[in-house]
Amino acid sequence: MSREMFSGNLRNRLHSDEWLIWQDQYEAKENLKYESLFALSNGYLGIRGSHEEGTKITLPYLYINGVFDKSETFMRELSTLPNWLGIRLYVEKELIGIEDCEILEFSRVLDMKGAFLGKRVRLKDSKGRETLIEGIRFVSRNNVHRMGIRLYVTPLNYSGIIEVESIIDGTIINFYDAPRFKVKHTYMTANEKLAADGCYVEVATRENHLHVGCGCRIEAYADGKQILGNRMISRFGEQSVEFGDIHVEEGKEVEIVKYVSMYTERECPAYALHTTIEKEIEGFVETGFDQELKAHEDVYKNMWENADIQITGDDELNRAVRFNIFHLMSTGNEHDDHVNVGAKLLTGEEYGGHAFWDTELFMLPFFSWVFPKTAQNLENYRYHLLDAARANAHKNGYKGAQYPWESADDGTEQCPDWTIEPDGTCYRCYVAVYEHHVTAAVAYGIYNYVKITQDMDFLYSKGAEILTETARFWASRCEYNKEQDRYEINQVTGPDEWHEPVNNNLYTNYLARWNLGYVLSLLASIKKENQEAYDILIEKTGLTEAETAHWKEVQEKMYLPRKEGTRLLEQFEGYFELDNVTIEKYDENDWPVRPDALKTKRARETQINKQADVVMLLHLMGNEFDEETIKENYAYYEKRTLHGSSLSPSIFSVMGLKVGDDSKAYRYLRRAAFIDLLNMQGNTREGIHAANTGGVWQTIVFGFAGVAQREDGMLKVHPNMPKEWQGLTFRLHYRGAWLEITADGSNQAKVIRLAGEPVEAEINGKVTTI
Ligand code: BGC
Repeated sequence: MSREMFSGNLRNRLHSDEWLIWQDQYEAKENLKYESLFALSNGYLGIRGSHEEGTKITLPYLYINGVFDKSETFMRELSTLPNWLGIRLYVEKELIGIEDCEILEFSRVLDMKGAFLGKRVRLKDSKGRETLIEGIRFVSRNNVHRMGIRLYVTPLNYSGIIEVESIIDGTIINFYDAPRFKVKHTYMTANEKLAADGCYVEVATRENHLHVGCGCRIEAYADGKQILGNRMISRFGEQSVEFGDIHVEEGKEVEIVKYVSMYTERECPAYALHTTIEKEIEGFVETGFDQELKAHEDVYKNMWENADIQITGDDELNRAVRFNIFHLMSTGNEHDDHVNVGAKLLTGEEYGGHAFWDTELFMLPFFSWVFPKTAQNLENYRYHLLDAARANAHKNGYKGAQYPWESADDGTEQCPDWTIEPDGTCYRCYVAVYEHHVTAAVAYGIYNYVKITQDMDFLYSKGAEILTETARFWASRCEYNKEQDRYEINQVTGPDEWHEPVNNNLYTNYLARWNLGYVLSLLASIKKENQEAYDILIEKTGLTEAETAHWKEVQEKMYLPRKEGTRLLEQFEGYFELDNVTIEKYDENDWPVRPDALKTKRARETQINKQADVVMLLHLMGNEFDEETIKENYAYYEKRTLHGSSLSPSIFSVMGLKVGDDSKAYRYLRRAAFIDLLNMQGNTREGIHAANTGGVWQTIVFGFAGVAQREDGMLKVHPNMPKEWQGLTFRLHYRGAWLEITADGSNQAKVIRLAGEPVEAEINGKVTTI
């Protein structure tokens, strides 16, 4: 596949190969995967990469981040909103679509640099008429309320009339292909003409009655002249269709452009939605598709200047790394601090668009180092929901603030108590009941965000308040074991969800202890440096000396299980007594094969893990363990982890490099980088694995480039790249400076300052001022 196959329209727009992700064949059964891979988001909304004309297998979802609804479902989930993608072309009653015609040529391409989706199809209908359609689609990041599609249509061997339908489809529902779960989260409040031309659909969510408007208008052009005739608007139930026809001549290209806009009641009052959208579309038509696309590309150019990673000597991997960065940065929102980044970004419906610990520990590092404003918004999101976390702790019988395992718009627990398996069996889901470490992740996220950005204003006000309340939660969550004179956390689930629940999961206990310790030292420094902030904090939280004294004791006496007389850390109390099953076989991709023992035993009866647990702890708290301990534990748990979660390979890659297991680290990086592109977990149809996208970035930057912060916070760069890589370049924001980091084939790093104040850093073992 190459850009050369496109005609001038697209060829000149497409960027060079390293920015392109291709689909070169149409296979209906791959549709859902490609809908996820080719989803486009602009931080405000996201739309899956479905085909304009519609296909039989499709989940054509459109989401606006933050628009949640519950209705009959188990939890508040991102509501599928009216989809504006539809454009259907007919010639004498024949639909010119990929599933209705013979496909003579087919390709689609995601241009990550320009952030648009291109396509080229040549179709032959039952009468032998051939039509060439090239297209481009984007959701503007210059103005997030503008989305556009342009089709270049050429009748190759006929002249006549092409009838065009442009559709807004309000019938699409969540769980479109899962009968048991199907649910409609909105009801229609308007289906009308947009203005003289164009159609408009307005819906409201069923519980909160939040109104969302969607308007669009089509135009057709030949030789710069408007040629759409016989325009008409029709309303078919919840679909709104703008019709028009075009006289076409053999061999002569025409252009069809669809201008779209969406707003919600969050941005303008419900009564003004229609007029706002009408004006927005007028403005868009006036600006022109090309101009808006250019402005959109300029924004992306700037984003890539910040976020790109260039690897010399490993092109295919580099493209995959860019693919992960593309989706993650496209979803982050630098303007709205009431939305988070869901576990599937805005690309699919699994997990209902909810935020997990995935945000703080996998994605936030990327945003903190690359897009600090977006990182700050993610921090503010947690602050806005602090009261809800307080209520959650209270409901569960604890003190302080307990963040929900799954979080949507109102901060209540959104992890369902029950799920129904595809075979109809009901399944009691205990995750929210036992998996509490997300609260520590929120605390760690603040610590880490501030360490990178030095946003002391946030730390001393909102951050300190969250940290205090989370520490308070942990202190109340711990139980005192009198016999052993220690504090314990019982009936808990750690990151490895295959052992649920356990007593004293080391990861959870360690982070709870860390949270308490960190707040104690933070309180001391706020008191010293900013008495006013300290007084406000004490007033807001009602913290007393007796309470902090208690925290100190809990922290000092926290039980941290380990195998006595060895360096082995014990994942949880009793783990080493479980059946010692290990991974012995690897498949043709060198990937662990599920041990036979699991045919007769449940994983929970063995030491086999779903994902990084102790190794995750070593990743976060590596500074607190000696080299040998890290090495031995990595080796032990690596033999017992099946990576049933996409949150695992990237962490094993970073840690593999730390312990000198370089070849495995590279293998883990490839696994992580290609997880969705090659559908390695088999569920890319449900959306892109968001945490993994951040994990891939961490693997390159913290792993192969060896970026870290020393105990004193100083930036440290010490690359450790595979032999095949001749170079690595990327940029970071660090304490007000903007830095470019390069590493050459002999693992020597160079850091230059592109903007901001001079900073000190330890480069290849030597401290220098940059
Ligand atoms: C993982 C969790 C993760 C969740 C959402 C689960 O499969 O075990 O660690 O938070 O997916 O990505």
